[in-house]
Amino acid sequence: MIYNIGSINVDYVYRVPHLVKPGETLASHELSTVLGGKGANQSVAAARAGCPVSHVGCIGQSDQWALEQLNGWGVDTKPVRSVDGPSGHAIIQVDDAGENSIVLFGGANHQLSADQLNEALTDAEQSDWVLLQNECNALDEVFAQAKAKSLSLAFNPAPMSESVLQLPLEQVNCFIVNEVEARGVVANEHGSAQELVSALAQQFPKSIVALTLGAGGVELIHAGHVTHCSAPSVDAVDTTGAGDTFVGYLLAGLVAGLEPVVAAHKACFAAALSVTKPGATPSIPTAKDVEQFMTSQA
Ligand code: RIB
Repeated sequence: MIYNIGSINVDYVYRVPHLVKPGETLASHELSTVLGGKGANQSVAAARAGCPVSHVGCIGQSDQWALEQLNGWGVDTKPVRSVDGPSGHAIIQVDDAGENSIVLFGGANHQLSADQLNEALTDAEQSDWVLLQNECNALDEVFAQAKAKSLSLAFNPAPMSESVLQLPLEQVNCFIVNEVEARGVVANEHGSAQELVSALAQQFPKSIVALTLGAGGVELIHAGHVTHCSAPSVDAVDTTGAGDTFVGYLLAGLVAGLEPVVAAHKACFAAALSVTKPGATPSIPTAKDVEQFMTSQA
């Protein structure tokens, strides 16, 4: 079981010919409004992978539709609190090549409390995982409660910030980082992917670490070994949520008892499929879609 302590955002997705430049005013060709947030996306991905997921977060009173969607996709939202003030949201530009840029507004995602966490984790067992990103407040409290209850901790420090370095990162059992996040975590601003792999392996010898490289696949570091998992080649429509799809599928695989490298391989296929469709949560594939895709590429 996964307890995902994470954001729930309303994503305003603008299709644009190119990502807007400083000082430029740019017309978009389309606007869609979908459920997103790294937390919610990862919960949906893990649930679609077949794993029981309990989502712990906060949302504005007027956005109950988001909870109905999460429930409909098999995510337990009982621990989500409806709070005063606006929900978190994201302004997302997606260009013709499927690349994106994202501006976040934290809103309700910054209203998590220690008592909400404590209540949500009351029934957690030692075989359960806590999953965490960096779009909510109270990360230090999540680390402390996971440790106190001897729960495994998976951390995707996205988006990366200086405050991440103040956390007891040696406690993390599974890290999922892209190159930007890895550079921040190992304090090597210009490191190549290979330098980042070496530094991550040295700094976190007891953790499973996945360094995601987009279309370049994933470097999986586990028990002193580094394994490259390739990403299948696809036509990208929208890369939003691909990293979150990888995280949810990877952790669902670990909870199901898969070897980390097997779980990472499957998660690469799930992430690749997600970029072939627009939107964050709407693009996350089901386990059946992923199995069929893997078979078709074998
Ligand atoms: O990782 C993609 C997500 O980042 C979007 O859904 C957006 O809400 C931001 O949190």
